[in-house]
Amino acid sequence: MISRGKVTVNGVKVNVPEMKINETEDRVFLCAKHILYRQYMYIMLNKPVGVVTAVRDELSETVMELLPPELKRRKLFPAGRLDKDTEGFVFITDDGDLAHRMLSPKSHVEKEYIVTLEKPAEEFYEKAFAAGLEIDNKELCLPAKILFTETPYVVSLTLTEGKYHQVKRMMEAVGNKVVSLKRIRIGGIALDENLAPGECREILHKEITSLYAN
Ligand code: URA
Repeated sequence: MISRGKVTVNGVKVNVPEMKINETEDRVFLCAKHILYRQYMYIMLNKPVGVVTAVRDELSETVMELLPPELKRRKLFPAGRLDKDTEGFVFITDDGDLAHRMLSPKSHVEKEYIVTLEKPAEEFYEKAFAAGLEIDNKELCLPAKILFTETPYVVSLTLTEGKYHQVKRMMEAVGNKVVSLKRIRIGGIALDENLAPGECREILHKEITSLYAN
């Protein structure tokens, strides 16, 4: 496209592909469209049940295999895991620093789940979760927030950390069992309702600022 004269830098047509630019200052246009430089990519995927949250897996399909070619980029990885039988919001990025901060319990980034239970939810869960539940007689959870819905078997649960099988183990600790689980929000970013299971979209850089805004 450069040799066909379709690219301009600062208003001047260029025809040398090896030309070096300053990616933050030079204005690059392709076919009159302004091309913006992005150091990192952020992707929201609606993970379906049955897919593993990993970069590679010998046996099962991975979340990375669901990305369309135009969103595939080297070094992308899922920041945080959902179990194979959990669906919903998986955040995929190549920004290691942001992923690290987002996953640290110290950052208090909320993760909200819709939980379908085997038995109706009981009122005492609210206080037990808010106080910080002990699971498996040794691990102490940070305070979590439960919201009851019109359906006694369905609750919303918001955590600020991500222990192994945490929602399932918390529900077992109060004598219940998770039937299905869906993550619908990370920080201030809600799972896009227009994304069918298996679909993804780029998260805009301006949305990223709300990641820390619970
Ligand atoms: N808690 C779980 O038990 N499983 C998940 O996939 C996420 C949170």
